[in-house]
Amino acid sequence: EKGGWSSFMAKEVSEEPEAVANTVRGRIHDGVVQIPELDGLDEMFLGINRIVVVACGTAAYAAMVGKYALEQWTRIPVDVELAHEFRYRDPVIGPDTLIVSISQSGETMDTLMAVKYAASRGAKTLSICNTQGATIPRESDAIVYTHAGPEVAVASTKAFVAQITALYLLALHVARLRGSLTAAEIAVNAHELEAIPAKISEILATEQTHIEQFAHWMADTRSVLFLGRHVGYPIALEGALKLKEITYIHAEGFAAGELKHGPIALIEPGQPVFVIVPSPRESAELQKKVVSNIQEIRARGARIIAVAEAGDAAVLPYADEVLRIPLAAPLFEPLLAVVPLHIFAMGLANAKGLDVDQPRNLAKSVTVE
Ligand code: M6R
Repeated sequence: EKGGWSSFMAKEVSEEPEAVANTVRGRIHDGVVQIPELDGLDEMFLGINRIVVVACGTAAYAAMVGKYALEQWTRIPVDVELAHEFRYRDPVIGPDTLIVSISQSGETMDTLMAVKYAASRGAKTLSICNTQGATIPRESDAIVYTHAGPEVAVASTKAFVAQITALYLLALHVARLRGSLTAAEIAVNAHELEAIPAKISEILATEQTHIEQFAHWMADTRSVLFLGRHVGYPIALEGALKLKEITYIHAEGFAAGELKHGPIALIEPGQPVFVIVPSPRESAELQKKVVSNIQEIRARGARIIAVAEAGDAAVLPYADEVLRIPLAAPLFEPLLAVVPLHIFAMGLANAKGLDVDQPRNLAKSVTVE
């Protein structure tokens, strides 16, 4: 039920804080991360030397974010692959490989087929899924449920933040087992994760109206670009996908460093570009690089919409619009930076009078290959 909300998507965006909180619940105790569903599987996590994450669409962007944390915290090499590409190229996998699939519905045929294929090649399989008892978790050796609650709108929002949360919990669980992080390091990251719901709530409380007004004002835009670096890159892709899906506006996400290798040719006066700016306090080096990318495109007339930490003064001279997010450690910024982009896409679709819950040509779960 929509309750008092104008759309399921509006309701589901408002539930992003709970989606994270409910996914964390019962898995962190005083800074120790232990996922009860994975009890008895220690040998599996100790025996692998490679992780491949398979997913489609928004879930694949969650996977791309998760790769940074999984590699940094577990020191296990991680590849992310679109599920529909995975099994058509004779991938190098075997009993030492853990295949992590991510699917909100648990019924996406492309992802299911990738999991079945991996299992037939002897790989271990773990499913991150939002739907109890769905087909993909039933076909997997291990399951970590996201607890985002049912997601009805075709555009995935709260499931995305829950998927990143589950991947981070998984990474910290495995880091504890393998000793790749100290207990103190795990506790610091666990506390960062526990602090995220309140920070998302803060964005919804302080920025939502501003972003919706801004989206209304942008309603006639024909093309929007999104730039990000490091964990901001998959967020740029997610921002662009959401805009395409529900507003039908041409949108593309790029890795900021890739700009001068081609995409900068697209910049002409007035072109709106969202830039996900890393926190200056937490990653000064990255922030400087992104600010210099902003300067390059601004000099060519781009209109800059910065998604930046509240209080980041460095972006102000270069940004035409700033969408503010609270401070978080670098790996946790995606869980915040994506929220303004979800609100923006929804606001723009509403401004155009479109059906945000049921965009044309799309189904909530893609059960054909
Ligand atoms: O149910 P799944 O998570 O497996 O679905 C994967 C994609 O089809 C899904 O994320 C799709 O990209 C969404 N419509 C994005 O908003």
